[in-house]
Amino acid sequence: MQNSLCKQALSDVWGRLNSSLIVRGEGSYIFDDQGNRYLDFTSGIGVTATGHCHPQIVGAIQAQANQLLFGQLNCMLPEITLRYATALRAQTPASIETFFFSNSGAEAVEGAVKLARIATGRPNVIAFEGGFHGRTAMTMALTSSKKVFREGFQPLPAGVFFSPFPNSFYYGWSREETNRFCLEQLERLLQTQSSADETAAIIIEPVLGEGGFVPAPAEFLLGLREICDRTGILLIVDEIQSGFGRTGKMWAHEYSGIRPDILTMAKGIASGLPMSAIGASHELMSRWVPGSHGGTFGGGSAVSMAAALATLEVIENEQLVENARAMGNELKQNLETIFSKYSVAADIRGYGLMVGVELTRDGKPDKQTAINIQAACLKSKLLLLICGTGGNVLRWLPPLNVSSEEINTACKIFESAIKHCVS
Ligand SMILES: Cc1ncc(COP(=O)(O)O)c(C=O)c1O
Repeated sequence: MQNSLCKQALSDVWGRLNSSLIVRGEGSYIFDDQGNRYLDFTSGIGVTATGHCHPQIVGAIQAQANQLLFGQLNCMLPEITLRYATALRAQTPASIETFFFSNSGAEAVEGAVKLARIATGRPNVIAFEGGFHGRTAMTMALTSSKKVFREGFQPLPAGVFFSPFPNSFYYGWSREETNRFCLEQLERLLQTQSSADETAAIIIEPVLGEGGFVPAPAEFLLGLREICDRTGILLIVDEIQSGFGRTGKMWAHEYSGIRPDILTMAKGIASGLPMSAIGASHELMSRWVPGSHGGTFGGGSAVSMAAALATLEVIENEQLVENARAMGNELKQNLETIFSKYSVAADIRGYGLMVGVELTRDGKPDKQTAINIQAACLKSKLLLLICGTGGNVLRWLPPLNVSSEEINTACKIFESAIKHCVS
């Protein structure tokens, strides 16, 4: 009864992995109204990074709610917002000194593009094939991970050009060959379609998220940095999915040591409260004419700020970046062992707790097996998502404080699912 009511009242535009009614969450688990317990290895697409209802986050939200719920940034300077910006500054690379806050990842990317345009006086943006940056007009235009995100909504805003992402598994080439090809194609794009003088920014996810959990090799990112330095194009690093410790470093771009000009952040930022941020240097941010960017809610939710501040504290105090790295290695080792036993072709990859398992059959994406495994896991109460252009990448996004025991439980369920699906 409740389920059918729920179906009528909520838009069908949400694809739903699990349609049971969830009433509570605790750590790596969620509970439905029938008392069933599910191991949540989606973390709400990387949002509940400290697990569900971490007591310190809940406590910070409750305390803040008693003090100030909302302080609109154009009208006042909420102390908690300034405290959070200062704390975030201590966690970002030296090039990222100052922040603009908004509510969603897409909003942060929209703002980053506006900042790049106003700062450079140039119109165009280069994005990468397979990238995902959101579902608003400009961010749809920057997205090419799947046709569903664009189809039926075109024409999209102009001034966006795509270059190939260094996905050596897709190309079937060595990492070196793939990097060389992709950097050459980017140079060619600058020679043929959008000259450097017309290009405000290059935007990249250091690990492709929706596009299939593919890390960009360090040499490629360093190549991008070199092109940007040579041409004055700004480098926007979109860490909306990969940031805040998810990859076993605070920021995934640290694996390459590149310097972002603009950093976009969201998802795990506030452990579940809606919030996002754009970071840049003082010099860059100062090129924004006051009032030319903003929003009623951006930065104003004192409760989100308190949750974000507590999230940073939990990440630091509980050493969640280190845990993500250690648990990610354990997870990948378990997955390697599992796949060595079955005749399923799988590429297991990723940093930290952003792990993808790409399934192929006869060299082609094997979407059906991915769907079958996901469904079998759900039956055994393990929630896993799928991503990738071919819909054939099982993606692992447990909370950053997941335990070794929970990883083992999930891997046992996963192995039974594979056994069930391939036999
Ligand atoms: C890398 C990246 N950028 C941007 C977005 C858009 O964020 P939101 O869904 O909060 O608008 C996402 C969401 O999945 C993402 O993964």
